[in-house]
Amino acid sequence: MPKWLDDAVFYEIYPQSFLDTNGDGIGDFQGIIEKLDYIKDLGCNALWINPCFDSPFKDAGYDVRDYKKTAERYGTNDDLKRLFAEAHRKQIHVLLDLVPGHTSEEHEWFIKSKNPEPNEYWNRYIWTNSWFSWDMEGLKFIAGETERNGSYIVNFFKCQPALNYGFLQPRTPWQLPVTHPDSIATREALKDIIRFWLDRGCDGFRVDMADSLVKFDDEKKTGTSAVWSNIREMLDKEYPEAAIVSEWSNPPLALKAGFHMDFLLDHEGKGYHTLMRDYKVGAAGTPVDDKSFFKKDAKGDICLFLENYLPWYESTKGDGYISLITGNHDTARLGATLSPDELAIAYATLWTLPGVPFLYYGDEIAMRYLFLPTKEGGFTRTGSRTPMQWTNGKNKGFSNAAPEKLYLPVDPAPGAPTVETQEKDSSSLLNTVKAILKLRHGEPDLQAQPNLEILYAEKGKVPFIYRRGSFVIAVNPSTDAVSAPVKGAGTPVFTIGTGTLDNGECRLNAQSFGIWKV
Ligand code: GLC
Ligand code: CA
Repeated sequence: MPKWLDDAVFYEIYPQSFLDTNGDGIGDFQGIIEKLDYIKDLGCNALWINPCFDSPFKDAGYDVRDYKKTAERYGTNDDLKRLFAEAHRKQIHVLLDLVPGHTSEEHEWFIKSKNPEPNEYWNRYIWTNSWFSWDMEGLKFIAGETERNGSYIVNFFKCQPALNYGFLQPRTPWQLPVTHPDSIATREALKDIIRFWLDRGCDGFRVDMADSLVKFDDEKKTGTSAVWSNIREMLDKEYPEAAIVSEWSNPPLALKAGFHMDFLLDHEGKGYHTLMRDYKVGAAGTPVDDKSFFKKDAKGDICLFLENYLPWYESTKGDGYISLITGNHDTARLGATLSPDELAIAYATLWTLPGVPFLYYGDEIAMRYLFLPTKEGGFTRTGSRTPMQWTNGKNKGFSNAAPEKLYLPVDPAPGAPTVETQEKDSSSLLNTVKAILKLRHGEPDLQAQPNLEILYAEKGKVPFIYRRGSFVIAVNPSTDAVSAPVKGAGTPVFTIGTGTLDNGECRLNAQSFGIWKV
């Protein structure tokens, strides 16, 4: 387990929208380099950059055309190497985004694979043995598109043919077993990409759709897990400091398979979902009937989160970390539904739970979700991908380009949050974020390690109180003053709102959060 994860706090950057330094309206590597001090000062010491490789951008870069070449719009491979070096100089680690399950239909492997004549790449993707065979449970086929006499399987969009890691239980001859040399060749090609970027200075990968590799896998994902265990073995041997985090949202499976961290994603009905996005989407796309725990008047229930989280947490202790996110490039921004005051309590909670947290760019200032036409396959995700709001000047400081040339429009609201405004306001969300993260970095008890003890969590009630080593932490997102029994007394080290811990009782006023040293 790489030691640096103990105190890592990640910042996710959607490179298109972070900072444009050459006036073409789209973010670039140089823009990230210029903001490394900002990121460090915020309290983040690690980055995850969304795919920045050569791509036709039909899915914002998750359709990779060349894994070993950066997209020109962001800069060259050398610029990215310079980014790694500059980041490392500031003790910031950098994860790239690895897309192992599929490529772009324009990747040279696929161009060779769709050739009617058999060749080295014929089995790099999953093809049926006849153009007329394109129907099978759970698999998505594209038929009639190529000269090769077969149909191929996609993982996500039509432009993303699925790479072939084999089938756990093949049912027909075109379904190769996972032990077939061509299934293994795909895994080895993936390792080659991993080594390529680690050798150039990256510190690991966020892994896209990590559970999607082997087809007809069983419930335990035995086939896919074996691929990752094999890759983890290679990492442990050759790159013991490299870290991988999975988009899987099943920590017991993902961490056993070899990931160091696994994200909890916003899946409806699952625990994480109930914290901040437990609402229905109404007619105009606006949220209604919000029952989220951190919504002040929602009377949300922390037990809905804990029922899902705690068994996963308990069963993965020592295997790796659960990663709680503020949001990501696929998820609705919280700025639309939670006020900065509600967000402060939400972030303070997320970042004082065990595991390795991830902050999505712009969430530190509560950027809003914008209703926009789709861009690069974003569809409803597009509104969470708009340019970072740095200043109150032109294009909110994102770019010098003419506004209509921007990758996506900046938030046009007159009071749209910006870093410039919030830096000057000591009570802003931005400054609260800095204070919480600073405290976390100073106290090993509040970092990734699994030292969580629940002190008070009752169905449908607040507060929520837990212990991390020598700290007691209490959360009250509601508009009521509340209290609960907690043994002993403590010295306050951080509070939002007001509260006390003494005489065997913890009291919190409306919308308050506190950390006490006991
Ligand atoms: C993941 C990515 C998403 C992408 C999809 C296909 O879910 O986060 O943005 O569209 O995989 O690669
Ligand atoms: Ca640019």
